[in-house]
Parts: sequence; structure tokens; C-alpha cells
Amino acid sequence: MDDFTFRNPTKIIFGRGTEARVGEEAAAFSTKVLLHYGGGSIKRTGLYDRLMASLAAAGISVVELPGVKPNPRLSLVREGIRLCRERGLGLVLAVGGGSAIDSAKAIAAGVPYEGDVWDFYAGKAEPRAALPVGTVLTIPAAGSEASTGTVITKEDGWLKRAFNSELVYPRFSILDPELAFTLPDAQVANGVADIMSHLMERYFTNSRPVEFTDRLIEATLRTVIDAAPRVMRKRDDYDAWAELMWAGTIAHNNLLNTGREGDWGSHEIEHELSGAYDIAHGAGLATIFPAWMKLVFSHDPARFLRYAVEVWGVEQSFVDPERSAREGIARLEAFWSSLGLAIRLAGLGIGSERIEEMAAKATEGGSRKLGHFLPLGPDEVREIYRLAL
Ligand code: NZQ
Ligand code: ZN
Repeated sequence: MDDFTFRNPTKIIFGRGTEARVGEEAAAFSTKVLLHYGGGSIKRTGLYDRLMASLAAAGISVVELPGVKPNPRLSLVREGIRLCRERGLGLVLAVGGGSAIDSAKAIAAGVPYEGDVWDFYAGKAEPRAALPVGTVLTIPAAGSEASTGTVITKEDGWLKRAFNSELVYPRFSILDPELAFTLPDAQVANGVADIMSHLMERYFTNSRPVEFTDRLIEATLRTVIDAAPRVMRKRDDYDAWAELMWAGTIAHNNLLNTGREGDWGSHEIEHELSGAYDIAHGAGLATIFPAWMKLVFSHDPARFLRYAVEVWGVEQSFVDPERSAREGIARLEAFWSSLGLAIRLAGLGIGSERIEEMAAKATEGGSRKLGHFLPLGPDEVREIYRLAL
């Protein structure tokens, strides 16, 4: 096991109706709050009214900044930073999924910073301070509700980039599984693909031995594989959503990468896709992850065999263990297809036109390798996009 330091300070408030506590939780940080959300789902579902009532009851004044798009944009982050500074706001409260939360984190880190907030994403600077962030999660997917990450798209050049900082760990996150009942099929499936990818990025590692976290990851994957079809069949299955929502948070709150080095190549390769084509992150992962698996398979077939057996229940053939190992990849593809996800880029209407451009961007002109399990240069990245076609 690798040495590690682990600290996750996000307070999780989990269960039915917990959004009613948002006022009291927010008031612990500030009475002047930026309420940051997306394209209107929170109004259609009635969540907005419940949150406003709780915030008002706690004596909190609210400045609103709606309009976060999936693949959140830098221009709206700048608008949020301006509002927080001008109005002296002390907490950024994100309501939604990864997009609203990531945008809130960017605003929070940008407010006390004198330079341009994009510096953090460009790797030119690291945040030294940030406003506190709180969240009300409405979609289990990105895990941003308890992660150090934020991913923003700069419209100029359509660059989608991330940074990680402990300063942007949300101070509290409210997780009410009932809020997910209103999700459309496609968003459920995208979220499941993202959660599973966060687990698999961590699973495919060269760190040895890591038995405890291997088993935790396998158990979390099996939980998601069990719960996802249940919420697909019955959208108000609270018990299944509760499993999925908590698994989604644990998948990405850094617990499951303690003592091991994750890969993250597929995520970087996907970020170029959603940067270039503005597709949902989970939808992109459903095409890239199986392609990545096929390309790196021979680096460690034994790991793929364990994945097939422990996660998918594949029966190990002693005559042809490689066939059993590859069966794990086929099961993953079949599972994602059963949720309605496209597992090839063609299914997203994407062809080979921009492969060169994306491979060059992802590897910074070939100067940078992606991933840790098997570090990938531009040739391998191009090949993964091709395998995904
Ligand atoms: O904008 P509204 O109207 O709210 O609609 C949203 C949005 O269109 C809708 N939605 C959310 N909750 C709903 C709902 N519709 C009905 N009922 C509800 N309860 O769902 C759509 C997608 O929302 P979004 O926030 O974009 O989804 P997700 O949570 O998948 O976030 C994706 C973003 O997170 C980034 C991705 O790259 C992408 O930009 N990621 C962030 C990470 C992090 N910070 O740690 C890690 C991830 O790997 C990921 O990269
Ligand atoms: Zn992800």
C-alpha cells in the first residue's frame, strides 16, 4: 500500500427532506449567499421554493445566479465572482449536479484571487483561499459534492480543464435521494457511467497490495450495478436511489484511492470530447472507458480477470483465462447499453474528424503522457478514440 494522507471535511446530510435544513447549515457560514443553479430543473420540481423558504427562515439574504450549463462555462464563473465581490457574499450555495457545484467551486476560489480564475485551470497558480461552498445535490454522478475537483470549460478555444484543491471541498452537502426522482432516463444513465468510471479509474492501478481498497471498490461497483436498473425501472425507488447516491459520493470522495494510484487517462480523454462536442461527461465516458480497457488490457490481464470475476461474476475459465478476463469488458458494455447509453461515438453522432485535434490537445502536442496504469502518448490516445468509433 502506498503512503497517504486522507482528509475529507465535507459534512454529509443525508435523507428524505434534508433540504429543509439548508438555511441552518448555510447560516453557520454567512447570512449573504450566492444561490447558484442550472437551467431550471430546480424550479420545475419545486425544490427552489423549499430552499428559499428554509433560507428565509434562517434570516439569509440570497443573490441568485442561475444558468449553469452542463459543461459549465468560464464566463458565468466570472459573473459569479463579480457578484460575490460587489455584494459581499460569504457562501456559494450550489444546487444541482457536478456542473453547478464545479462552477460554484470556481467562483469560491476566484473571489479572493487577484488574477484570472482560469490561472488555476491552466496550472499557472494554486488557490490560497476560497469562499466556503455548500451544495444540495440533485443528481448522483460527478461526486463533486465531496470532491476536491472542479472542471470548467473556457469558451475561447473550448478547453475543458480541471483543478483540485482541498480549499474547495464543500463544507456541507445535502443528499436527499428523493430529489433524483425527477431525473430523465438519459441523465440517470450518464450519472451511472460517471460513478462507475470513478470507481474503475481507481481500480486499475499498479499499486500492490491494495486488498482492502480493491474490495471496497468491487463492492461499490456491485452496489451500483444492482441499484441502477432498479431506478431505471421505477424512478421513485427510494431505497435504490439511496444506495446509488451514497455510492456516487463515496466513489469520488478520495477514500477509495487511499494507498493506491488511480489512472484517470479515460477522464482526460473524455474531457477533450465533451470540450469539443459539448456532450455529457458520462455519455462520453461510456464510449471511452471500454476503448481504454481494450487498449491497456495486455498491460495486466490478471487485473482484468479479477475485475471480471469479482465485479461481474464471470466464471473463470482455467483453459482460457484471457477469454474470461475480456468477458468483463463485454459485460460492462452490455450493462451500459442496457441503460440506453451509446458505447460507440457513432451513437453520439461523432465521427473521426477531430481525433487528431483532440489527441494533440489532451497530450499538449504530444509532450505529456496521460494516465498512470499504462501512461499513454498521442498514438495511444488516438487509438482509443478510434477504438471508440
Ligand atoms: O440545469 P438543470 O435544469 O438543473 O438540469 C440538469 C442538467 O441538464 C439536469 N438535472 C440535474 N438534476 C436534476 C435534473 N433534471 C431533473 N431532475 C433533477 N433532479 O441534469 C443535467 C446534468 O446536470 P450536470 O450537473 O451537468 O450533471 P453531472 O452531475 O453529471 O455533472 C457533469 C459535470 O461534472 C464534471 C463533468 O466534467 C461535467 O462538467 N465532473 C466533475 C467532477 C468533480 N468536480 O469532481 C468529476 C467528474 O469526473 C466530472 O468530470
Ligand atoms: Zn467523471
